[in-house]
Amino acid sequence: MAYLELQNIAIEFSDFKIEDINIQLDKGKFLVLLGHSGSGKTSLIQAICGIVPIAQGKVLLNGVCINDLPIHKRKIGMVFQDFALFPHLNVFENIAFGLRIKKAKNIDKKVQDLLELIELPNYSKRRVYELSGGEKQRIALARTIAAEPDIILFDEPMSALDESLRDRLRATIKNVVKQMNITTIYVTHDQKEAFYLADYIGIMHAGRLIRYDTGDNIWQQPQNQLTADFLGVHNQFDATVKAKNHESNMFFYKLDVKGIELSIHSTQKLELNQRVKICFRAESVFLSFKNEGVNSFESTILDYKIFGSTISFTLQVQNLNILGKTFRIINLENYSNQTLYCTIPEHAISIIY
Ligand SMILES: Nc1ncnc2c1ncn2[C@@H]1O[C@H](COP(=O)(O)OP(=O)(O)OP(=O)(O)O)[C@@H](O)[C@H]1O
Ligand SMILES: [Mg+2]
Repeated sequence: MAYLELQNIAIEFSDFKIEDINIQLDKGKFLVLLGHSGSGKTSLIQAICGIVPIAQGKVLLNGVCINDLPIHKRKIGMVFQDFALFPHLNVFENIAFGLRIKKAKNIDKKVQDLLELIELPNYSKRRVYELSGGEKQRIALARTIAAEPDIILFDEPMSALDESLRDRLRATIKNVVKQMNITTIYVTHDQKEAFYLADYIGIMHAGRLIRYDTGDNIWQQPQNQLTADFLGVHNQFDATVKAKNHESNMFFYKLDVKGIELSIHSTQKLELNQRVKICFRAESVFLSFKNEGVNSFESTILDYKIFGSTISFTLQVQNLNILGKTFRIINLENYSNQTLYCTIPEHAISIIY
């Protein structure tokens, strides 16, 4: 039995519906919810903590339905984008707040331990207005953890902070919740952040959970077109199965993609002449001066764009335009009139629906 289970959750607003949400999360696991703006991420986590009513389905914690449990009785902590610290209290009192309500023992030591954990050991006397954004967010994290929640929900906690601070703070968040074995759901728009933090990733689209799996599985196999689109896997092509072979559970296929023969392997069973859709990441495409064998094709660079440390380029391979991306270690200008080979590794190609 999973620690946190969402069973067929539906949420209904006047003109927006969230439906069919099924999630199982074990104790101490970190789930990141990704999705476009308005896809329902905030509403879903607010339903878990009881702010938004559930129209259908169940939230189970340790097998017990908590749908009807009032907010203050759910041991669920929340950290939002606006840090919501109490401005009239100093750092110590902000963190101690929940402990005082619970009449906890050893409050001084508990608060000091938490200040050490968030690496602000000497900040207890500081006033809220004397803190930077990143410091406020760390105090908000400590205050939430002080209440010893069963679950912490984060809603874009770092979107107001700059990139280098986000880097450090996300490491703090990951360490702290892992150390304390707290089950976590974290909403972000930042894919890099999602894949760094997550044990599991849920991708929401228009009120549905369109993909839920480990970060690794989602990275390697988006499985459906909406997920591939969301993750920016832009090489998507229609293909036809022309040959097949298999060895125990692994299938080897030769596909025809607009006259090009692509080899792939997959655990999915396909029939000869079946029409499928495939995708692969721009980062998986690599360039060379010689034919590299399997899935290696003569190609011409149609155009390229430089984005700081990376170059994105478009290649023409017969009738196909393929997008590639690489670190800026080569100067594509020198090669624009030369024939290059592009290779798409078999393991980088996956089937989507
Ligand atoms: N209390 C409410 N009453 C009516 N509609 C609501 C309410 N809360 C949210 N919505 C609608 O539900 C949809 C999903 O909103 P939600 O805030 O959950 O999206 P989100 O994925 O968190 O978006 P963002 O990434 O912009 O924060 C939106 O269309 C929003 O207008
Ligand atoms: Mg939101």
